[in-house]
Amino acid sequence: MPSSCAIVLRNVSLPEGRVADIGVMDGIVTHVGAAGGPADRTIDCTGLMVLPAAVDMHVHMRGGSQSAKEDWASGSRSALAGGVTVVVDQPNTIPPITTPDALCARVFEAKSHSLCSFAINSGVTFDTPVKAMWSVGAMAFGETFYAPSSYGEAITPEELTTALREIQSCCALATIHAEEIASGEDHDLSSHDRLRSCSGEVQAVRDVGRCNTVGCRLHFCHMSTHASITAAAGLGSVEVTPHHLFLSREQFAPEDTLGKVNPPLRSEQERKNLWGVWDRIDIIASDHAPHTSGEKQVPFEKAPSGIPGVETMVPLLLAAVLEKKIPLADVIRKTSQAPAELLGIPLAGFAPGNRADFSLYPKTAVPIDPDMLHSRCGYSPFAGLPAVFPRTVILGGDVVYDEGEFHPGSPAWFPGKGFFPR
Ligand code: NCD
Repeated sequence: MPSSCAIVLRNVSLPEGRVADIGVMDGIVTHVGAAGGPADRTIDCTGLMVLPAAVDMHVHMRGGSQSAKEDWASGSRSALAGGVTVVVDQPNTIPPITTPDALCARVFEAKSHSLCSFAINSGVTFDTPVKAMWSVGAMAFGETFYAPSSYGEAITPEELTTALREIQSCCALATIHAEEIASGEDHDLSSHDRLRSCSGEVQAVRDVGRCNTVGCRLHFCHMSTHASITAAAGLGSVEVTPHHLFLSREQFAPEDTLGKVNPPLRSEQERKNLWGVWDRIDIIASDHAPHTSGEKQVPFEKAPSGIPGVETMVPLLLAAVLEKKIPLADVIRKTSQAPAELLGIPLAGFAPGNRADFSLYPKTAVPIDPDMLHSRCGYSPFAGLPAVFPRTVILGGDVVYDEGEFHPGSPAWFPGKGFFPR
């Protein structure tokens, strides 16, 4: 143990079963072992689950003219209260993040208001200046809309082929929203599921694979069916959301717009099949996409798609851990290590040198109460499901959330690898 630590977590049960004390200094883990020298603050973790905090690589933090849905202040509070210390913001903002100036402005907005660390993706349109976006710090490119979605214009296969060539020349990552849309009336959750079908998602994954003539690094966002995960094998990494794992359209009234999302909630059978390929899911990300209650309270066809979920992602998964459905190590892998590795963000964890971002959880689940959540949208389609919320969250060695209270910390911007300070 170094002579003095800013913070020491005592009696931490490490994933391999050993109990150790973790010393932290300057935002980095400095020591893992038996108790040693003095610390400014100690936290006894006896009886708690201590996890490296999550990286949610798919959130829509909104802001600007969409601040009634969410903004960096409310969205980042929601992230921290759910054990997420790093979010990757998607570029389908208003205006979209498709120019270097827009990306720099978005970074400035997040630096000014976010309580959690963050990265910003570049949009991908037919005329996005890929190299310029990369050099101003885009983390990755996308989500690229292969089919249109809320605030997202689709690009053509030819445009995608060209964009992937440019993204590959930067050695950057392309993230893809792969769907195929049939025409027809979109009047309830069943028709929404039919129009943006499972088979269409599989077809879109294959088509995107064919557009990738140059071997660009691909990541498939929010895969909603086991068949598209199979189709994506060998083409890129796959991400799955908590809503496709924990919700099916049968759990909602047919016209309940709170369940309207792209890709759609599937049948209960599809949901179960998705759990059947759990081991092949690389990353869990929330696709946190809040809209106001008012925007959702319109006829189904007119309602925007999107489900809030950054705050409930890890809590839902930990309830599944307590039910012995999945191992804790998988949750750490899929919500923290794997996204950090894919994006090149320093790992949070239990080894000296790791980023000192941790979330401390009790071993009891509670039913999700939307009134207790922090997203500005004020509702949750996960209401009533069991979840384990963090008691304490540590960001860069600072306690930023404790027993429902937020405290100031030092959130970081993680630019992509092409960042060249101007
Ligand atoms: C997202 C949104 O609202 O920004 N909606 C959604 O249904 N997932 C856009 C998107 O990711 O498709």
